[in-house]
Amino acid sequence: MRRTVIAGNWKMNMTPSQTKKFIEELIPMVKDVNKCDIVLCVPFVDIAVACEAAKGSNIKIGAENVHFKESGAYTGEISAAMLKEIGTEYVIVGHSERRQYFGETDETVNLRTKAALAAGLKVILCLGEVKEERLSGITNEVVAMQTKLDLKDISAEELKNVIIAYEPVWAIGTGLTATPEQADETCGVIRNVICELYGKDAAENITIQYGGSMNENNAKELLEKENVDGGLIGGASLKTDKFTVIAQAANR
Ligand code: PGA
Repeated sequence: MRRTVIAGNWKMNMTPSQTKKFIEELIPMVKDVNKCDIVLCVPFVDIAVACEAAKGSNIKIGAENVHFKESGAYTGEISAAMLKEIGTEYVIVGHSERRQYFGETDETVNLRTKAALAAGLKVILCLGEVKEERLSGITNEVVAMQTKLDLKDISAEELKNVIIAYEPVWAIGTGLTATPEQADETCGVIRNVICELYGKDAAENITIQYGGSMNENNAKELLEKENVDGGLIGGASLKTDKFTVIAQAANR
């Protein structure tokens, strides 16, 4: 049985002191959520504080990116080993904002995924089509290709530590959400590609999240869909009450 995972992506928000306060407030609110995993992916400088604050709770902590080299002359970058040592459990790789603003390609997404998995991190691998691709009717081809390229040379064993987040780029931070049917259909396309690459069991067991303006009002409907195993939540993960409603919607 695959796990439902509700993950927050804080992006470039929250200082360490705000992080501590947020998590202390969230812990009692989500303490009864046990049928889904709760993850908060936070800025690098907040991770240590977040891990300390979340200790002993059901909240797991992730990073928002990782570099693909083990070490070396890469000014400003953070390695998987560094993340691991401070208690990070998850890492987001290939977010559309990284692809759009920081030159991330399927090739570097694949390298980062491999580096993170080798260090024992769990990866939330993001992919999804842009608006023009959706309008041109090539969404399925686009997400199938991204899935194949981003998972190149990743073994079935390693895949057990990968979550895929289907995030239509036109829905991220725009207030536009994919309909539950669109989310279900495209997550299903990704699942079929996983089946092609890794077989039926892997396809049935992999967690595929939807992301893109998921909030306290639309989460339930999206999460009810067969192929939607959770959410990657940006804006609504910055408020404990909204994030709690989403986690509770997934807790069934
Ligand atoms: P959003 O962001 O919920 O604010 O649309 C989702 C994401 O970027 O993962």
